[in-house]
Amino acid sequence: MFDAFVNPTLRRLNTELAALQAKSQYRSLETVPGINLYSNDYLGLASDPRLKAALLRELHRIEQVGATGSRLLSGNSRYWEDLESELAAFTGAESALYFGSGYAANVGLLSALLRPEDTVFSDASNHASIIDGIRLSRASRVIFPHLDLNFLENALRAAGGGERIVVVESIFSMEGDRAPLVSLLGLAERYGASLIVDEAHATGVVGPQGRGLAAITGRPPALLATVHTAGKALAAAGAFVACSETLKHYLINRARTFIFSTALPPHMAAQVCAALRIAEQADAERAHLRVISRYLHSRLGEAGFDVGGSESQIIPVILGTNEYAVMFAEELSRAGFAIRPIRPPTVPDGKSRLRISLTSRITMDDVERLADCMTAVRERTAVTERSGRA
Ligand SMILES: Cc1ncc(COP(=O)(O)O)c(C=O)c1O
Repeated sequence: MFDAFVNPTLRRLNTELAALQAKSQYRSLETVPGINLYSNDYLGLASDPRLKAALLRELHRIEQVGATGSRLLSGNSRYWEDLESELAAFTGAESALYFGSGYAANVGLLSALLRPEDTVFSDASNHASIIDGIRLSRASRVIFPHLDLNFLENALRAAGGGERIVVVESIFSMEGDRAPLVSLLGLAERYGASLIVDEAHATGVVGPQGRGLAAITGRPPALLATVHTAGKALAAAGAFVACSETLKHYLINRARTFIFSTALPPHMAAQVCAALRIAEQADAERAHLRVISRYLHSRLGEAGFDVGGSESQIIPVILGTNEYAVMFAEELSRAGFAIRPIRPPTVPDGKSRLRISLTSRITMDDVERLADCMTAVRERTAVTERSGRA
């Protein structure tokens, strides 16, 4: 008789998963009921009847519902080309190129652009897709402390040969604060560097008609590209790089996540187009979002929470340990607020948090109740947390 075979790889995976569980760092797929505080649907378009109706109209009109291949093979269509022209106009860029996701856009852009002799300067709070794109590129890298422009300037001054590319998010996904684009562009110009800005959390939300933060600062030559995701405020899927014609054609030839991946179905292009039109008109939703975000930030700050320097709809509530963040999220969920704790490796060790992500569907009443509830949970649990840590 043979002993039952235990697959050694699965055994190792089980050990690793058990270790994550022991550190309160184990993640599972769940849908948490309640008022949604962890959605990136900033303008509430995901359930907007106008967007659904537009998509249905297009589905009736469109000949095929599958892309059938990469854009370089059978996956191209006039839907994508028309959309890219609209996106270029929307961002004020010369051109735009659509990718299957924001992750693919950042990885494709950075890994194609950067050469081993170049140096990339990346903010320490940048998204995983930026980190992974940089890792793939083999360029020298300088990870500068979050928004520390003095550190960045010294590093730019000290950099060796090759090109210099600075990468930031315009609204940081975990901190909710803004990159000072004017100062960053000034530094880039002074040191002959280029700037790439990920506008994932600003697209649809910030700037005139939701065109992003770079639409406020303009697009001088030092601004090489902006990256805009469509899966958040635009309630669709995919992402686009807004850039020059030259960079677009370079990416079509060199960005592996663009070349070696099936295009999204053409009705997605139609959906993004429709979402863009609604988002452009959503000044009232943007104004409401600004009001409730500022109010919640100041209420939580006054109550003693560490809410960082958020200037947007993303409000981090930094709680410290994984266990405290998990427990806090569970308390809120019991009170009818849906939120998930954010733990390492998404954020640094000891900086576990709740990431409150407000949308225009949330009312001022909801925000009042949330602030009251969080204050009560804090008062009830702070003692336990302090003695737990001692
Ligand atoms: C700053 C940033 N960039 C890129 C992405 C990836 O976008 P996508 O979800 O479309 O892959 C995200 C997603 O959360 C993000 O927060």
